[in-house]
Amino acid sequence: MEMLTPADRSARGAPGAAGRSPTDASTTDEPLLRLRGISKHFGAVQALYNVDLDLPRGQVTALCGDNGAGKSVLTRTIAGIHQPDSGEIYWEGRPIHIRSPRDSASLGIETVYQDLALADNLDIVQNMFLGRERLTRGLFLNEDSMERAASETLASLHVTTVRSIRQPVSTLSGGQRQAVAVAKAVMWNSKLVMLDEPTAALGVAQTRMVLDLVKRLKEHGLAVMIISHNLNDVFEVADRIAVLHLGRMVAQDVASAFDRQSVVDYMTTGQSTRAVGASDANSRRD
Ligand SMILES: Nc1ncnc2c1ncn2[C@@H]1O[C@H](COP(=O)(O)OP(=O)(O)OP(=O)(O)O)[C@@H](O)[C@H]1O
Ligand SMILES: [Mg+2]
Repeated sequence: MEMLTPADRSARGAPGAAGRSPTDASTTDEPLLRLRGISKHFGAVQALYNVDLDLPRGQVTALCGDNGAGKSVLTRTIAGIHQPDSGEIYWEGRPIHIRSPRDSASLGIETVYQDLALADNLDIVQNMFLGRERLTRGLFLNEDSMERAASETLASLHVTTVRSIRQPVSTLSGGQRQAVAVAKAVMWNSKLVMLDEPTAALGVAQTRMVLDLVKRLKEHGLAVMIISHNLNDVFEVADRIAVLHLGRMVAQDVASAFDRQSVVDYMTTGQSTRAVGASDANSRRD
């Protein structure tokens, strides 16, 4: 996959920059990723029933749901780890199959997990270039160029607490690890970043850093999907909220169509009688 530095991105008018080419699908209402009728079972367990989900560019979608609701299964289906039993996936309006994590990476999908995202024994630069190292004349690693790109990307995201980009990630705090995983997603020109409970194990300051990063990804024009049980975090960063209940998508709308109580209602009972905002929280707007 192509790698872009932040400077390349703005020079090209990449997603998030002011000028968009008229042929760019982002000028239409078509979301970057659209799922329709996705079902998935594991033996006797039906993890997802007919799930619809839209992930638009330049917006943060919070995926909410109680334990076992199907959030991680849905994430792993988009990441190419699970194959859906039925349903369609559209990427930039085109029907596609995501058969492997490699397929999802080549589309520009990056998934960030709290613990699995990084290789502990490697340093920050090595992690950011893992499997995609830059070579000089095809033989030697181009360390200078990789270091420069890694530092520029971290700086563009205002990640300033990391002391050295040559420190092993095992020496980083949880929040710093998340920051590196997110920076990696930005550096590789991802279009969609999914974060599965990125702040679950983090302290207040670290959570702050990750939420700020999420906002910056959105400013870069990326579609972001964040899973969180923390409704403070959800209401702080989400433009849209989608709620799964026992494998069914029971609500999906702009964040202003919900309040905390209605999200809790949907998460725990699959329905809510509260009317919030201007929009009907049960109906998708597409
Ligand atoms: N690989 C698997 N094999 C069998 N069952 C699975 C597998 N992965 C998930 N499940 C089941 O699918 C359902 C949804 O699980 P999932 O991990 O998506 O929940 P979740 O919404 O992410 O919950 P949590 O908030 O606890 O992380 C659960 O009943 C779970 O036991
Ligand atoms: Mg989960």
